[in-house]
Amino acid sequence: FGYINYLVERDRGYILDTLVKGLKRLEYRGYDSAGCAVDGDEDQDALMFKEVGNVSQLENTINKSNVNKDTKFINHCAISHTRWATHGQPSPINCHPQRSDVHSEFIVVHNGILTNYRELKTVLESRGMTFESETDTECVAKLAKFIYDTTPGIDFTSLAKLVFRELEGAYALLIKSSHYPGEIVATRRGSPLIVGVKSSQNLKVDFVDVEFPESSDGLPGAAPNALHPRFSKTPGTSGMLRGDKPDLLHRAQSRAFVTEEGVPGPIEYFFASDATPIIEYTKRVMFLEDDDIAHVSDGELHVHRLRREEGMSTTRTIETLEMEIMSIMKGNYDHYMIKEICEQPDSLLNTMRGRVNFADRVVTLGGLESYYDIIRQSRRLVFIACGTSYHSCIAVRPIFEELTGIPVVIELASDFMDRCPNIFRDDTVVFVSQSGETADSLLALNFCLERGALTIGVVNCVGSSISRKTHCGVHINAGPEICVASTKAYTSQYIALALMALYLSRDSVSKAKRRIEIIDGLAKIGEKVQEALHLSARLKEYASQHLLEKDNMLIIGRGYQYATAMEGALKVKEISYTHAEGILAGELKHGVLALVEEGLPIIMLVPDDFQHPKAVNALEQIRARGGKPIVITTKDSEMFKGLSTFIVPKTVDCLQGILNVIPFQLLSYWMAVLRGHNVDQPRNLAKSVTVE
Ligand code: G6P
Repeated sequence: FGYINYLVERDRGYILDTLVKGLKRLEYRGYDSAGCAVDGDEDQDALMFKEVGNVSQLENTINKSNVNKDTKFINHCAISHTRWATHGQPSPINCHPQRSDVHSEFIVVHNGILTNYRELKTVLESRGMTFESETDTECVAKLAKFIYDTTPGIDFTSLAKLVFRELEGAYALLIKSSHYPGEIVATRRGSPLIVGVKSSQNLKVDFVDVEFPESSDGLPGAAPNALHPRFSKTPGTSGMLRGDKPDLLHRAQSRAFVTEEGVPGPIEYFFASDATPIIEYTKRVMFLEDDDIAHVSDGELHVHRLRREEGMSTTRTIETLEMEIMSIMKGNYDHYMIKEICEQPDSLLNTMRGRVNFADRVVTLGGLESYYDIIRQSRRLVFIACGTSYHSCIAVRPIFEELTGIPVVIELASDFMDRCPNIFRDDTVVFVSQSGETADSLLALNFCLERGALTIGVVNCVGSSISRKTHCGVHINAGPEICVASTKAYTSQYIALALMALYLSRDSVSKAKRRIEIIDGLAKIGEKVQEALHLSARLKEYASQHLLEKDNMLIIGRGYQYATAMEGALKVKEISYTHAEGILAGELKHGVLALVEEGLPIIMLVPDDFQHPKAVNALEQIRARGGKPIVITTKDSEMFKGLSTFIVPKTVDCLQGILNVIPFQLLSYWMAVLRGHNVDQPRNLAKSVTVE
């Protein structure tokens, strides 16, 4: 998160508070350590604060420090970061910002992983630089200083271009420097980066021209990959190492972002990984594209590219977000998780809003309309996702198979990329992701785009990478989900995908009756979810009496409820830290029965659908071996005598998973609360996993 004020007077205390507030909103993305950097007093080095733990711990450190909070700044750039460790343990030295040297001439915050940092480090060490952290990020700060020291007079954008062209991997980066006071450079590749723009005056332009260099080779005067190891063996052969000067006349030609009067006026900029820390200041944002280099200087925002690319747009528009600040506040709830669980009756309606005409039983998905025929004629529907989003794909597979008749393949994004299987031009590939930023899913998306498949995004975060890169899509409109463990996004994905299956089968006469049955079921789903939420108190009691001492749990389901079992187990694992496995009832006899013994918590999904006899069969197999399962069902029965039974409202068989998952969300929530865990930020996890 970065904050820049220009011709707006802010004291250091305000700036630090803004950083801490921004990081708190982004904390769900990573929370093992945090840090920030602001300018020092006149002629002093930048001030950095770093702390292991979450952002509140950083806030305490700032509050306890004796730094002068009253110093005023009229033009200032501040950067900050909350970390989910990839390289190097969470420790103060590995916290971001990372610095170039003891005077912090260049300071960097980074989201992502640099895959070539070892090579860069080796070369920079051979040039006499000493590294202090184990992070990949430090080499960006060191590289910036190296280029600055060896290229007298270089401006910040040219320097940034030389730095960024050396980097491989995924990143969103912010860099500030004592050599360029009041300026910031930012770039992204693979990791998201948004710029918020706040001005009390009307803005003259709602877009920023993108500056492309004249030559397709990028910056004149410097050889590509100046620090690449293949050059380092023969020092002096590369442009930079020979000391070639980049052409300093090659200045920004891009349109400045100015006020109505045509000159930069009072303005504030916010750089962030997503919109949540920005919307309380401004709803006007610009989404940077991969390899954009944004430069703020003297209140102007310029966007540069390293090279000219065919088809690349020459403008970036300022868009107005529709997100409301209330949607990211906890309100009266103790945790985001319980807020998001309880929001489901509404979030599900929002997913269907404007898409389902319940009177005429018509489903319309405007985002897919122009691709309808291509999708219908696809060889296969391939679904690719991770985590909870993967489970929503499993949940709807039978609906797609039944209604559309198109063969369905479901892939975990990481496994898909390990195998890189055949993808054909006539495949339709559906990317399901809450954040729209999951690195594995994004890699898979690029892979499928390269192979010419039609791609569809089913995404919650508007403006996210997956929603922007796919050909078409459906936003699930669940509203911001902050808790790391996904709840309302799962049920909204389920509904959005069910709508897609209904939509794609609109012309099928033989499916008409079934479609009507499902649409009628959807009409009542909100109120039934509301009813299912009433199980909360009983589940809390059950958890406190029976589950807190347990280390293992089996959750068993089949048919439509296999996905529920897997998603339920994931919820329990994620936040209660109990090992839980979601098991297909049909597989019990192939190994799992060996685990069954008295005292092992087993939860069985026994729906009242065509699978009922088989589910009861599994129940009996467990009981015969001394197991005493907890039953989640829609109808009590003599069969469950002596067992703890939780009754959820009944809906159409293929939608039952939406209601059946609610008890698992609540159960895992209460287990985590009763155990005193950090419910919204479970240990070692992050919500948007933007690294492979
Ligand atoms: C992380 C989150 C999960 C999420 C998964 C996929 O692991 O903790 O809650 O299901 O990523 O994320 P996506 O944003 O692609 O749905």
